[in-house]
Amino acid sequence: MSERPFSQACENNKGPILEILQQCLVPGSSVLEIGSGTGQHARYFADHLPGIRWQATDLAENLAGIESWRVDYAGDNLLPPRELDVRKPIWDQDLADAVFTANSLHIMGWPAVQSLFRYLGKHALAGSQLLVYGPFNYDGSYTSDSNARFDHWLGLQHPQSAIRDFEEVDGLAVAAGYTLAEDYTMPANNRLLRWCRSA
Ligand SMILES: C[S@@+](CC[C@H](N)C(=O)[O-])C[C@H]1O[C@@H](n2cnc3c(N)ncnc32)[C@H](O)[C@@H]1O
Repeated sequence: MSERPFSQACENNKGPILEILQQCLVPGSSVLEIGSGTGQHARYFADHLPGIRWQATDLAENLAGIESWRVDYAGDNLLPPRELDVRKPIWDQDLADAVFTANSLHIMGWPAVQSLFRYLGKHALAGSQLLVYGPFNYDGSYTSDSNARFDHWLGLQHPQSAIRDFEEVDGLAVAAGYTLAEDYTMPANNRLLRWCRSA
């Protein structure tokens, strides 16, 4: 087996994120993860939330890496990863009881973020949750010097990548039928935003 992709950030944030997921997710429900990256989160959350059916997705080029974290998983609640590019989503079925994404909105360009929310607006289930982890700006300001440095670095990597404004993302969520339920403070100047869609 080729070496698994690895993210130190995932190792650092998976415990604090799990604590929130344990509070929010109801056993017997399903999660669609968008932009699963290495697949570490999917494996860890499926393992620690055995009552939740976890569907990892990402761009085609990341699926083999995600599968490498899943292949020796003993449980049956971690599904094989599927391709999902939010710029041209190919699934037109109803989505899961919760949609989760971590550290993806500042990587994909703003048109892709808009496309993601249009997609959720069309296909997210009534009563479902949306959980988004990552850094956000508030009132047009960084919440820390380290986020300001990170945003500068992001812009150098890709001109379309940037820390998003909470208010702009919340506006997209509201247009997609969601209402903000919680804005959790997370370690390292990150947030975990939880929206609920009207039942
Ligand atoms: C910084 S990584 C985060 C990965 C993982 N969620 C984590 O927390 O480590 C950003 C992820 O967003 C994904 N991504 C970027 N553009 C995307 C798009 N248009 N549709 C779906 N996923 C996308 C990337 O492939 C990558 O896996």
